[in-house]
Formats: sequence, structure tokens, C-alpha cells
Amino acid sequence: MTPDASEPSFSGTAVPQPGKEPGMGQSMWGGRFAKPPEEQVQAFNASIGFDQRLALYDIEGSVAHAGALKRCGVLTEAEWQAIVSGLESLRVDVEAGAVVWEEQYEDVHMNIERQLTHRIGALGGKLHTGRSRNDQVALDMHLYAREQLWVTQRHVRALQAVLVELAQRHVTVIIPGYTHLQRAQPVLLAHHLLAYFWMLERDAARLQDAWGRADWMPLGAAALAGSTFAIDRMAVAQELGFSCIYENSLDAVSDRDYLLESLSALAIVAMHLSRLSEEIILWNTHEFGWIDLDDAFATGSSIMPQKKNPDVAELTRGKTGRVFGHLLALLTTCKGLPLAYNKDLQEDKEGVFDAFDTVQTTLSLTTAMLATTRFREDVIKRALGGDFSAATDLADYLARKGVPFRQAHEVVGRLVRHCLANEMGLLQLTVADLRQFDPRFDEDALALVEPQAVIAARNVRGGTAPDQVQLQLSLARERLQQD
Ligand code: ARG
Repeated sequence: MTPDASEPSFSGTAVPQPGKEPGMGQSMWGGRFAKPPEEQVQAFNASIGFDQRLALYDIEGSVAHAGALKRCGVLTEAEWQAIVSGLESLRVDVEAGAVVWEEQYEDVHMNIERQLTHRIGALGGKLHTGRSRNDQVALDMHLYAREQLWVTQRHVRALQAVLVELAQRHVTVIIPGYTHLQRAQPVLLAHHLLAYFWMLERDAARLQDAWGRADWMPLGAAALAGSTFAIDRMAVAQELGFSCIYENSLDAVSDRDYLLESLSALAIVAMHLSRLSEEIILWNTHEFGWIDLDDAFATGSSIMPQKKNPDVAELTRGKTGRVFGHLLALLTTCKGLPLAYNKDLQEDKEGVFDAFDTVQTTLSLTTAMLATTRFREDVIKRALGGDFSAATDLADYLARKGVPFRQAHEVVGRLVRHCLANEMGLLQLTVADLRQFDPRFDEDALALVEPQAVIAARNVRGGTAPDQVQLQLSLARERLQQD
């Protein structure tokens, strides 16, 4: 890589300048060094390009830390006041996007300290007493993960609500159900849609579970061994709304399990969204034609005027790869690390940020797309006629009359072959046709092949019979209300 002359160069110096306050005009750790880092090293080391999005969490954590420093006598009341109001003014500027982040200060923690020192003078340098960036970054990521897990769970709930609404709206619509992408047995469309509701129910629970681990408070671990100042860690945890603290300082600064659990939960959400997207893509084909996507959720082709492509669903399916990738990347980053903090851990951020962003965006787009999708009931109805999805029911009919199921299966198999040879469906069969294959078929067998009858026969708990699907719908609604 050739250095680009337009890139910012190192303007700090490792040697304290006469007349300047320590910490005012040089790198934050410059004292030990005779020269500044190589330009490329500085750029390589810096995380400010991406960790600036932790700024508000960093300030929140710093306010809590300042409180702890006051309580253990490191800060006087007046010093605490000045630091907190400096941080508050910085918070306002961060929210307004008015802070200029500088690569020479490496990361968000040192940039914020630098900004604070600019505002309140050398007193800003007292804030880092009893703290290390190691426990500080861990705290920031815990605060970030807790919030984003919660936000993601809200998105999951919104998609579940739309699925329940769609199921309710189409509660009498029957579709062919598939296994191996071959017509298998008819099911209610509502039943099919609710299958996704339950997948997402588990997703919501997994996100909640990860939240429980993100809810451990690391601050006070300092660099690795704990702080020499009497930081009341419980009080800090309470102030920040954490329900517990890490009981081991080495673990506190080294742990990224809560991020791995978050990524794992996100990867499973992404996989579910991908499966749903695949069905939307399929149903939207000319060959299926079951749905009509709203124009606002489809795109055209630059060459073929007739095209209406399901890009949102395709991209949702496509973006699954990057979410899976982030999980594997962080697992790999962590696998060989000795205790405690190692700079490798800085690599946790971009993937985690991107995974949350990607999953939240795809959840919200899928929700909006589904809410505006029209199901073409006439086409679906035509798809139901002329297939063999009642074949199991005919075999079950014979089995109820005492025919061993294997034998019944064979009889109906021959019946299907006959229909195929004569280009007819089961619905076109007469009793006389049926009796050619087995004399035990009576008039009542004909009613069994109607899709409604096939559906109604699956009246087991969790089955597709209308009563069971009604029960599911009410259970699903209860889950949403409980939340
Ligand atoms: N930017 C660092 C990270 O994201 C913060 C912690 C740095 N700690 C250190 N000892 N260099 O991991």
C-alpha cells in the first residue's frame, strides 16, 4: 500500500511539550515512548472510524464512573460536577454530530477524554482514574449489546404481529403444502404463516437470553486485575441498570461470549428470514403466482420491461451470508486468545455492528413487504385442484377398514399411477374407479379427497385443521400481548 499524501498525518508527539498540560497535546500513552507510531501503524491501530458509534454509551459509562470516583473520594464534589457537566455538553454535541473524531487519538475512549479535556482542562484527565480502556470498552459493548438486542427483539415482535394479522385475514385459504418441494398435503395458509411466527418466537427468546448475559457489568476490572481505588462496582451496576457484575476481573475484560451469543441469535434470525424470503421469491414467480408484491417492494429490470423482481427478499436472503460470517469471524478471533485483553478483541466491533444493522433492516423491510403483499386466492385455489395431495387420506381410509397400511399405500399408489396415465386428479375419480383398485372403497371415500376434508382431518393439536389453527392464532396473540 502506498501512503496517500492526503491522509492525515500524526500531529501529536510522544514527548511532553514545555508549557503544555500533560495529556493536552500528545498521544494518551506518549510518556513511555521516544517517538510517535509509524503513520501506517497509527491507521492500522485506530478504531475511531467505527467505534465512534459507541460514543453515547461511553459517555453514559463515564458519568457512572465519575460518580464512583466521587464516592470513593478521588473527585471532590466540585470536580465531579465539572466532569459530569463537561460530559453532558459533549453528549449534546455528539448527538448533534458536531464532534470531530481524530484518528490520532486512536479510539472513541481517548477521543472523548481528549474532547473533555478541551472543555474542562486537565481535570478531564482525572476521569480515567481507576479505569482502563479494557474495562471501559467492555462496558460500552455491554451497553450497546443490551440496547440493540432489545431493539432487534422489537423488530421480531413487529414481524410476528404482521404474520398473525395475515394468518387471521386468510384463515380459510388452503394452499398445497410441500415436502421436497413436491406437493405433499394441503394446509391452511394461516398454518404455514404461523410456522414462521413460532420460529420467530424462539428467536425472541434467544435474543432475550443473550440480553441476560449482556447484562453483566464489567467496569472496575480495570486493565485486568481490578482497580486499586475502592470503586463500588455494585453501585455503578445499579446506576447503569445492570442486574449483576462480573465476579472475576480477568473474565470481565476478556469475555466476548455475550457478543457471540448475540451473533448466534442474529444468525438464526437471518436464516429464518432467508427461508421466508425464499418462499416469497418462489410464490412471486410466474409459475406459482400465489402472491402479488406491492410495487413499492419490488424493482424493475433495466432491459426487460415486463420484470418485477423481488429484490428485497433476494437481498434479505443474500445478506444472511455476512451475518453467518460475522459469527464465525468472532469465534475465530477469540479461539486462540490467552487471558486477558488482547488487541485482537478490537476486531469484535465491525462485525457485531453490521450484524445488528443487517438483521434489524431486513426484519423491518420483511415486515413492511409482507404487510402489503396480496395473496391471489383464485390462483391458489386452482393450484389445489388436480393434484394428489389427498392420497394419504385414501390410504388412511383403507387402513381404517382394517387393511394393513403398507398394502393400502400400494393400492393408492397404483390409483395415482392410473390418474397420471389418464391425466386426471383424485377429485375426478368416481366410486367405480376406486373400486377397480380395492372393493372396500365406498361412496364416503370420495368426500375425503376434498381439500377441506383433508385439512379438517388433521385435527390433532398443532395440526392444520381449522379449529387447531384458531387455537394457534389465539395462543400466538397471547404471546404478543404478554410481551
Ligand atoms: N479500541 C480498543 C478496543 O476496541 C479499546 C481497548 C484498548 N485497550 C488497550 N489496552 N489497547 O478493543
